[in-house]
Parts: sequence; C-alpha cells; structure tokens
Amino acid sequence: MISEKILDGKKLSEELNQKLKEQIIDAHKKTAIKPKLATILVGDNPASQIYIKIKHRTCEIVQIKSVMVNLDKKTTKEQLFKEIEKLNNDSTVHGLLLQIPLPDHLKEYTDEFIGSISPEKDVDGLNPKNAGNLFNYNEYLAPCTPKGIIALLENNGVEIQGKDVTIINRSNLVGKPLIFMLLKRNATVSVCHTKTKDINKFIRNADILVVAVGRANFITADRVKEGVVIIDVGMNRVEGKLCGDVAFDEVLPKVAKITPVPGGVGPMTVHMLMQNTFNAYRNLVGI
Ligand SMILES: NC(=O)c1ccc[n+]([C@@H]2O[C@H](COP(=O)([O-])OP(=O)(O)OC[C@H]3O[C@@H](n4cnc5c(N)ncnc54)[C@H](OP(=O)(O)O)[C@@H]3O)[C@@H](O)[C@H]2O)c1
Repeated sequence: MISEKILDGKKLSEELNQKLKEQIIDAHKKTAIKPKLATILVGDNPASQIYIKIKHRTCEIVQIKSVMVNLDKKTTKEQLFKEIEKLNNDSTVHGLLLQIPLPDHLKEYTDEFIGSISPEKDVDGLNPKNAGNLFNYNEYLAPCTPKGIIALLENNGVEIQGKDVTIINRSNLVGKPLIFMLLKRNATVSVCHTKTKDINKFIRNADILVVAVGRANFITADRVKEGVVIIDVGMNRVEGKLCGDVAFDEVLPKVAKITPVPGGVGPMTVHMLMQNTFNAYRNLVGI
C-alpha cells in the first residue's frame, strides 16, 4: 500500500498542534499570560511572505499570540539591530525570529543579527548559545526543521539507533543540527556536500537518507538502495508547482518510507516553531 510508505507530516503536525493547543490553554489558565511570538520580515521576498503567513496562521490554531514586524527593504543595519533589541526587551514577547534570507545589503550581517536575538527567545534555535546547547544534546530550543524530521521518524516507528544515516546538507538550519540529534539517538551519520568525493557511495549506503539540496529530481531511483527511508527537505518550484529534491514517483517502489513534498517536512517545521515558542514561554514565565 502506497499510503503505508508515506511519512505524512501534514497529518502528524495537525495532531501535535492539537495537543500543543491543549497544553497552551492549560498554561494560560494557570498564568493568565498567553505565549507570544514576534517575527521580523525585512523587505518583500515573496517566498518569505508566504512562510511568515503560514507561521502566523499556525499561531492562531494553537492559540499563540503573534505579531509581525514588517520592515522596509531599505532598512539599515542599525535600524534592524534596534528592532531586535526592542523585541528582546519586550516582556510580553516570548519567541522572536528573524526571517531569512535578508535583503542583499544586510546579508553579510545575518549571523550578527541572529546572535543578537536573546537566547531565551531564539525560537529558530540558531543563536550560538542554543547551537552550543545542542552540542551537549540539549534540544530545548533547537532548529525546527531537524526537530521536525526526528519527530516524523520517531512517530512513525522508524528506528534510528544503529542505522546508517546520510545527510546531504551541511547548513546551520538543517544538516549541522541534525548531526547531533542523530548521534544522540545512536545513528552512524555521514554528511555530504558539494565537495564530497563519491557521493553515490554514501547515498547507496544509507538506511535513512536526508536530502536538503534545493534541486528537483536530485535523487533518482538508481541511486538509492532497496528499503531506504527518505526524508526530502528540499523545496523547489517547477513550472509553478512545489516539489522536493527526490524524483518521488520513480523512487516510491524502492523505499520503505518517504516524505512527500508538500505535506512532509514543511508542516513539521512549523509545528516545531510553535513547540519552541511554548518552550521559551514556559521558561520565561517560570512554569
Ligand atoms: N521544508 C522545510 O521546512 C525546509 C526548511 C529549511 C530548508 N528547506 C529547503 O531545503 C533546501 C536546503 O536549504 P538550506 O537553507 O540548508 O540551503 P543551503 O544552505 O543552500 O544548503 C544546501 C546544501 O546542499 C549542498 N548541495 C548543493 N548542491 C549539491 C550537490 N550537487 N551535491 C551535494 N551537495 C549539494 C550544499 O553543499 P555546500 O555546503 O558544499 O554548498 C549545502 O550543504 C532548500 O530547498 C530549502 O528550501 C526546507
């Protein structure tokens, strides 16, 4: 059955959002304070506008208050630092995220901006303090996409311990944090990138393959082994349609399980943002 092979991130995220909502209502009853997420978007990147909208819509579903700060694309470095500082100091805000990529003139300062977000409010888990916590296997405020990937595997009974996992990506957002989450769960992890000498060897060896390259049809059926579990993180637009990095239809007969795009990793990422915001809130209000 095809449906048994699908790691359905949409369905799982809806279930987890529902459970989280109940926890949030409970916490609100105790504290009379609602969790609140603030997002900063600089400029008018169309993809970023869509992602931000989805995040705020999900906040409504789980009953997290949210505020969107949309800054002009000509915003200066100083103005953006000031805005972050303002939200860091706003005690009604528990989670703060800066939507990336930033406009070209600010791009080179991205790490500095992220580093200036209060670690207690850093719900994207990208601040060096939270990245360091992950080094010690503390996933309390860890990046949302790898957290979502782990939840998808664990909630679908995919064993991680002892498995050979190949990640094709080494970004701060996906590959690097995922290494630590997998090591924590006793996987053997290989990380590939553009300079990997024989990438096919690692792809073929994988029991679990995580692909986040950003190229449609990057993984074809001839490259993977029978019975592999594939997590497709990629998001590409081909003729206006959203697709991942995997040639889904041709790979499907060979896999044990696979995430669809859309409806796989994407909604799980948004759920983990909600979860991180709730974590940050609990810490800040002391419950
Ligand atoms: N679904 C979600 O929630 C979600 C969240 C985050 C990202 N994404 C998607 O995931 C993809 C990656 O995102 P990102 O921000 O991590 O991008 P990124 O920083 O550009 O990372 C891409 C990674 O893929 C590697 N790569 C690119 N081409 C390759 C090739 N031909 N062979 C081997 N490795 C190759 C790069 O290697 P080098 O390091 O050597 O350049 C890099 O490590 C994008 O499609 C993005 O839209 C989805």
